[in-house]
Amino acid sequence: MKKQVVLYKKLSPALMTRLQQHCDVTLIESLDADGLMKLRDALPGAYGLLGASLKLDAALLDLAPQLQAIASVSVGVDNYDIDYLTRRKILLSNTPDVLTETTADTGFALILATARRVVELANMVRSGQWHRNIGPAHFGTDVHGKTLGIIGMGRIGEALAQRGHFGFGMPVLYHSQSRKPAVEARFDAQYRSLEALLQEADFICLTLPLTAQTEGLIGAEQFALMRPESIFINISRGKVVDEAALIDALHHQRIRAAGLDVFEREPLNHDSPLLQLNNVVATPHMGSATHETREAMARCAVENLLAALAGEKPANLVNPVAWQG
Ligand code: DGY
Repeated sequence: MKKQVVLYKKLSPALMTRLQQHCDVTLIESLDADGLMKLRDALPGAYGLLGASLKLDAALLDLAPQLQAIASVSVGVDNYDIDYLTRRKILLSNTPDVLTETTADTGFALILATARRVVELANMVRSGQWHRNIGPAHFGTDVHGKTLGIIGMGRIGEALAQRGHFGFGMPVLYHSQSRKPAVEARFDAQYRSLEALLQEADFICLTLPLTAQTEGLIGAEQFALMRPESIFINISRGKVVDEAALIDALHHQRIRAAGLDVFEREPLNHDSPLLQLNNVVATPHMGSATHETREAMARCAVENLLAALAGEKPANLVNPVAWQG
């Protein structure tokens, strides 16, 4: 008998067919109040879950006593209580690797957009305010040759370093839990303490996951260490940053600009003070959002789920302790 799987993210027809060959699939089309109700109704029969952008806490998952596997269509796993899942021997998988380059592209898009004021100046043209050759009041700052500071040297951090070092001739500084000799050799990157990196880098880019240790890592004290020329980029998770402190730093020109793909609360409220500031480029958590990459992530999640439900070890198992072989 096929196992029941609940999807809370739509799949392409090809992936849906692949999943349906092996499982009985219930699709929750959207995560509005109605969709959440349908999800709750489907949980008691679910052996597998596949989706993203939903906090799956113990209160919800207690409704799914037969659950064996969750395949998250994301690299970040901050929506899951891993200890709880491990206690219940529920296998959690994610989708690393396939989104690395695309997410690093987004990081670099934000670096260029903030430094060269792309959004602000494009809006000036669009709104009919371009009357003469622009002068210093509209000039940006160079990216090439400036110092790139990366906090969290995982796969995405490395892909950002690659772009900065080889593409833009940027000296690379990094801070992470441990030293990365291969990264240092390949990109001529230098390790720094968090404090030193914040003081030295022209571009300060967050690429680290949200965990109990990283939540609120960048607050008033850290913004105070940055320079008025610093540009702050966040493509990790909003909660790694104290957003009120960021807004304060921008208001008081303690930093030059911010490029933000993630926020404390998403979607960002349209009356957020961040949106009043010309030197903020805000994008809608689009790090991995290309057709190719989202399909690759979904494919990866489907394969992870099918493996787990077939009693095999998924390629991207997040909680190996739950694996019983
Ligand atoms: C990820 O894959 O974690 C992206 O940030 C989407 O949530």
